[in-house]
Amino acid sequence: MGRMPVLPEPLRYRSSVGPEPGLPIRFSMPVKMTCRRVRILLRTRPVVDGEAAISDVSGWLLSDTERERASRFVFERDRATYSAAHSLLRSMLTEFHQCPPLAWQFRNNPHGRPELDPAIYGSQAPRFNLSHTHGRVAVAITLDPVPDGFELGVDAESVARTADVLGLARRFLSPAEADWLQGLPASDRQSQFLRLWTLKEAVAKAVGLGLSLNFQSFHCRVDPLSVSFDQPGFGSSECWNLHNEWVPPGHWLSLAVRCPSGIGPDWQIEHLNP
Ligand SMILES: CC(C)(COP(=O)(O)OP(=O)(O)OC[C@H]1O[C@@H](n2cnc3c(N)ncnc32)[C@H](O)[C@@H]1OP(=O)(O)O)[C@@H](O)C(=O)NCCC(=O)NCCS
Repeated sequence: MGRMPVLPEPLRYRSSVGPEPGLPIRFSMPVKMTCRRVRILLRTRPVVDGEAAISDVSGWLLSDTERERASRFVFERDRATYSAAHSLLRSMLTEFHQCPPLAWQFRNNPHGRPELDPAIYGSQAPRFNLSHTHGRVAVAITLDPVPDGFELGVDAESVARTADVLGLARRFLSPAEADWLQGLPASDRQSQFLRLWTLKEAVAKAVGLGLSLNFQSFHCRVDPLSVSFDQPGFGSSECWNLHNEWVPPGHWLSLAVRCPSGIGPDWQIEHLNP
């Protein structure tokens, strides 16, 4: 008979959180402080080509299901980024919330977003979201209990991806966003499209719909950062706290956090070395 997972009952939060001494952090940026805060830690880590071959999937912190899913990727680099992202998630959850890394159990919402099951962990269970793209993974987790209505999403994209960005913009962005892109110098459009795209995906992931959300029905700006929705139910622009940054040498990264009024997210971003 297998051992029962050790579940966090009740969840406990460390009195002091933050990077352990010696972590290879290059950059850290607290953004907002308010009366009641929800701390968020966003970590990214590069994934170098060949990493999966060096340490095959048995070396990662993955459940049997995740291991099986990793093994089904055709391309080694997808196996590596998937494995790195899910291992990073498990290690971060364990670092800040009491539960061994392989004991965490997830369920998917109807649109595919993995979440900690409130039936197991309670309504204030940590929230998280992750992104894996060629060359980098990103994981955001909450460190404090979250209020109703709180949501977060993260997205990273590599600018190595090339595409007919004006064609994509007319198909998938709102008219105002596509006009903004078209007004940029041609040499900037590729990168700026991906910048805006990470922001839109982070918002779509925060609301839990992903690509099921009509990307022409909400509008993002990168300068100043903002989001607004055509339809009600997603929260006013004031509820949304957005972050967008360039992560050298080749990625855009966005974080979108929806908070009920009176509560502010207080996020810290760490870019780990390989
Ligand atoms: C989520 C989505 C926007 C991802 O975009 P992407 O840039 O290609 O990929 P990213 O690496 O940034 O993000 C993928 C991760 O987002 C998370 N995710 C998946 N669906 C999500 C959703 N609806 N909302 C928020 N996060 C989601 C997952 O953790 C996923 O990684 P995993 O599959 O390894 O667990 C897109 O793939 C999507 O909408 N998928 C929906 C799939 C779907 O509709 N499934 C139906 C039910 S199974």
